[in-house]
Amino acid sequence: MELAGKKRGIVIKDDWPGYGLDLFTYPEHYHDDIDSVYIPHGVVMNRTERLARYIVDDFVDDDIMVLCVLKGGYKFCADLMECIKVLGCNSNKYLETRVEFIRLKSYLNDQSTEDLHIIGSRDLSFLLGKSVLIVEAIVDTGKTMKTLRKHVETFQPKMVKVAGLLVKRAPNMDENLTDYVGFEIPNRFVVGYALDYNEYFRDLNHICVISKSGKQKYKV
Ligand code: HPA
Ligand code: MG
Repeated sequence: MELAGKKRGIVIKDDWPGYGLDLFTYPEHYHDDIDSVYIPHGVVMNRTERLARYIVDDFVDDDIMVLCVLKGGYKFCADLMECIKVLGCNSNKYLETRVEFIRLKSYLNDQSTEDLHIIGSRDLSFLLGKSVLIVEAIVDTGKTMKTLRKHVETFQPKMVKVAGLLVKRAPNMDENLTDYVGFEIPNRFVVGYALDYNEYFRDLNHICVISKSGKQKYKV
């Protein structure tokens, strides 16, 4: 059970329709662009606290290098690091966290493209011998994470762990790719909490499902 909670997270079933929009608040300009609230912001925060607990318990070093995958991971990373800090202040296990940012791009509209670009990153040689936590908002096909993990490992860190807020369920998914999973979700496109559709919806705080008209409106 404990392992399942880390490796699969909260499992959202294929037939979960989400919550009706009238049950929550959200920016008025997205009114016609989303169908439902898939995961409310508060639940994201509560789950993030739990992931922070796992991480604080697992990391034996007292400092960790956090590698935040931009742009989608910025909110999750900030909230996760805050939770790690609060936990440390309330116990005798304070983790010193340093953060570095890395930027990848592999999506156009709602489709994953073949080529992965690591477009924003300084020299990562400071990862040598460090305990590294990669923080990513969504692990989709797993290709991106596999490539990134390999890339990070070339700098010879002591240990690499991956925290993924969302992991999409796929027939041949690699459960060992993500060490800390927030939610396992069906294979559908979601936005909000920094996740975008062509750069829109990052300012939505809940994780939501886009409507047909929303997809059309922001298509490039
Ligand atoms: N939403 C936003 N960005 C993404 C997704 C998604 O479902 N999958 C991969 N990148
Ligand atoms: Mg994107």
